[in-house]
Parts: sequence; C-alpha cells; structure tokens
Amino acid sequence: MEDLAAVVLAAGKGTRMKSERAKVLHEIAGQPLLFYPLQAAKEAGCEKISVVIGHQGEEVEAALSEMQVDCVWQTEQLGTGHALLCAAEQLKGFSGDLLLLCGDVPLLSTATISQLVDRHRREKAAVTVLTASLDQPQGYGRIIRDGENVCRIVEEKDADDAQRALCEVNTGTYVFDADFVFSVLPRLGKENAQGEYYLTDVVAAAVTAGRKTRALCLADPDEALGINDRVQLAEASRLMRQRINRRLMLGGVSLIDPATTYVDVGVEIGSDSLLHPGVMISGATRIGHNCIIEMGVQIDSVQIGDRVHLKNGSVVEDSLIGDNCKVGPMAHLRPGTELLGDNKIGNYVETKKARFEEKSQASHLTYIGDAEVGKNVNFGCGTITCNYDGVNKHKTIIEDDVFVGSDTQFIAPVRIGRNSLIAAGSTITKDVPADSLALSRTPQKVIDGWRLKHPLKKK
Ligand code: UD1
Ligand code: CA
Repeated sequence: MEDLAAVVLAAGKGTRMKSERAKVLHEIAGQPLLFYPLQAAKEAGCEKISVVIGHQGEEVEAALSEMQVDCVWQTEQLGTGHALLCAAEQLKGFSGDLLLLCGDVPLLSTATISQLVDRHRREKAAVTVLTASLDQPQGYGRIIRDGENVCRIVEEKDADDAQRALCEVNTGTYVFDADFVFSVLPRLGKENAQGEYYLTDVVAAAVTAGRKTRALCLADPDEALGINDRVQLAEASRLMRQRINRRLMLGGVSLIDPATTYVDVGVEIGSDSLLHPGVMISGATRIGHNCIIEMGVQIDSVQIGDRVHLKNGSVVEDSLIGDNCKVGPMAHLRPGTELLGDNKIGNYVETKKARFEEKSQASHLTYIGDAEVGKNVNFGCGTITCNYDGVNKHKTIIEDDVFVGSDTQFIAPVRIGRNSLIAAGSTITKDVPADSLALSRTPQKVIDGWRLKHPLKKK
C-alpha cells in the first residue's frame, strides 16, 4: 500500500508474565510474539516500520536485528500516547497513513489490517480504530459511539458503570492520519486514573478538531487477543496452531489428531503426507509428499524428501533426509546428518555429521559420527565410529559396497576401501584396502573339560 507506515508498541513491562524474558520475545509456534504484528504490517504493505522498545529493549533490539525495522527507545513508560510520540522524530516528513499495532497482539491477520486501512482511506478519517465485541470486555478500553462516529474511548479504570457495561472494546490497533496524530499527541494530558498519556485520547481530540473518527469491528474477536500472562500465551499458541493445521489440511496434508499436532509457522509439508498425534515440527523444516511422520517424532530444521517414513519417537535435527528413507523407531539424527536417499536408519541408531550415500543402512543400535559413507554400505548391529580421542574429532570414511559385521568399532581416522568386508566383533585401527576382509578378533580359546575340574561351589 502506498504511503503506509507502521509503529509497533513493545516497550511495556509485561509484569504478569513473571519472566526474565521480555514479554514480546515469548514464543508461539516457534516465533516471538513480536514477529507476528511485524510480519502482518509488512504483508499489508507498510514501507517503514518502527518498533518502540523500552523494557529489556536491548534484548528486543537484538532479536529484531534481521527484520529490517527501526527501533525507537521509550526510556520511561509514560503511556501508549507517549510511546507513539517517541516515534515522531523517526517519522518526520512522513505524511501518509500510520498503522499502530501492539507487539503483544499476535493473531491479527493481514486481511484485517488491510480492511482497516481501506476503511480509513475510504472515509477520509483522522482515526480509525479496530474494535471487537466481547462477552467479557473487562480490562479493555470501551468504545463510546454516536452512530458511525466514535466519540471517545474510555479506559476501564476511568469508566462509570454505564460505560463499563458496553461490550465493544478497543483492540489497541488503529490507523491514523500521521500529520494529525503527531500534531495532537504533544498536547495530550494525563489527568486519568493511571496518570498516563493515553493514545486513546486521540479519538476525542479528533472529534474536537471536527475530524472524522471511525471503527471497524472484528468479525473474529480472537484476532484481538492480547498477551498479558502465560494463560493467554497458551491460548494464543493454541489458536495459532489451529490456523497452521487448518492451512496444512487444506493443502492436502492429513492430521490424525490436529489438537495434538504441533507445527511451527514457516514449516512446509507436501500433499498426501500423514502426521500422527504428538508430532512436533519446528524451524526451517520442509517435508515432501507422501511422507509418514509417526507418533512422538520431533523434527527441527530438516529438509525431507518424498515418501520418507519417520517412525515412532525419532528425533531429527538440522539434517537432510532424501527420498524413500526410513528412520526409527527411536532413532536420533543429530545435526549434519545427510541421507541421500533410500537409506534405512533403524532403532536406537544415532548419527551426527554423517553423510550416507544412497541405499546405505544402519538398522540397529549403532553410532555413526563424523563419517562419510558410500553407497550400499551395511552396518551390522552395534557398530560404533570412535570419532573422539578426548581432544579432537576424527573422520571415518567408508567407500561403496562395504559390509560391516556386528559389533565393530572404527577407531578414527580410518578409511575402508570399497567392497571390503569387516568381520563381526572387529576393532579397526588401520585403513582397509578395497575388496579385502579385515578381522581383528582375539582367536577363540577352548579348554576341554574345564567345567568338570571347576564345579560350581556349594553355597
Ligand atoms: C490499551 C488501550 C486499551 C485497549 C488495550 C487493548 C490505552 C490507554 N489503552 O490498554 O484501550 O483496550 O490496550 O489491548 O492505550 N506500551 C508502551 N509504552 C507505554 C505503555 C504501553 O510501549 O508506556 C505498549 C505495551 O508494551 C503494549 C501496548 O503498548 O504492547 C499496550 O499497552 P498496555 O499497557 O498493555 O495497554 P492496556 O492497558 O492494555
Ligand atoms: Ca494490554
């Protein structure tokens, strides 16, 4: 949208969170609360976005470093009106429409913001406020109307009984005529119950100035949910999850139980994939088509191809899983694992910084770390790459078509040439050339008749 700027208020303390972390940095669906209004403002076409910070402002500023927004300090929290005034300097010379959002209201949709801006422009209003009609309006400012005109907004603490009985509330979201709002903000008083400069007083100031004021009432009041405590945080998280799951299902993904499926915002999943209950998927994860993700699987920042089957209780992080792989149950793919395709990583197998070329497998009770594994390699049960000498990590390289017998240890650094066979129970300390057999078992000793000479002692 042309000539649209946004200010997002995020300087308040958030006392009721009872937290050492800034309120707006608490997360829902994998992103801090503040991320959502900023994203919505961007999607609605705001060219310039300023965030007013104060309490724990350093942390908030650091968290915003990659979001292309400007931070403005409000060193003393003197109220919402004062907070917006702090952004005046930065918006000097801007005379379009100004969108004001609160950093702790994460569910507001881009569509709603666009509607609000449209209405404000159509009506040529000085202020257009987003409202909601609530059964329980307690705690919010009430909207005093005269037909279409909003006369003023009265805070709960300043309201009389009749005003408190009104159910239409201020969501804390507005569009202002920027020139107008910055001309009246310095003149606001603080003669109210909280002794603060109220942004809501701009409405009455507009009426006095003979300007139009309008309201847009939300169709879905959930969008206005402001986060003040952890109960509301959990509620917002549930509502956000519902939205994400709905989007996934409409996009062709099956969820056996959406209520217990936890997919973060930004995760992509291809059609005909199936998610079992209790799955958690976070980070920059992309999952292809026709995958099955079983119960209790955790996925964080993993690129997953098509027809991949992740079985119960597996944990996979910062990895790459190619087409047709089978992982688990109870497997752990740690960061830097790359399965190029058609691999099988079975139960109680752990991998780390390990690249498996196509069709290689480790089916049971194995640790493969700091390794390069060629094609068609088979690891027997209980294989261990001994990659760490207490100081440094060392690499194990295994070429194509190697067969590793059970209970083998590779003392890295070591290289196994293609098509070789490692006998079960071996400890491999030296490189093995291609096409050979390596075994390092202690020869078995058998002592005839030993049990007859050494009968078990009686108790
Ligand atoms: C405000 C509105 C109220 C509305 C409600 C919606 C006013 C006077 N009241 O009340 O009508 O129903 O939001 O949630 O505006 N903030 C600052 N600096 C300050 C004070 C606040 O940045 O000095 C920020 C807070 O971090 C928060 C937002 O402004 O993001 C709202 O502040 P808050 O104290 O929660 O206002 P409410 O009392 O809830
Ligand atoms: Ca609030």
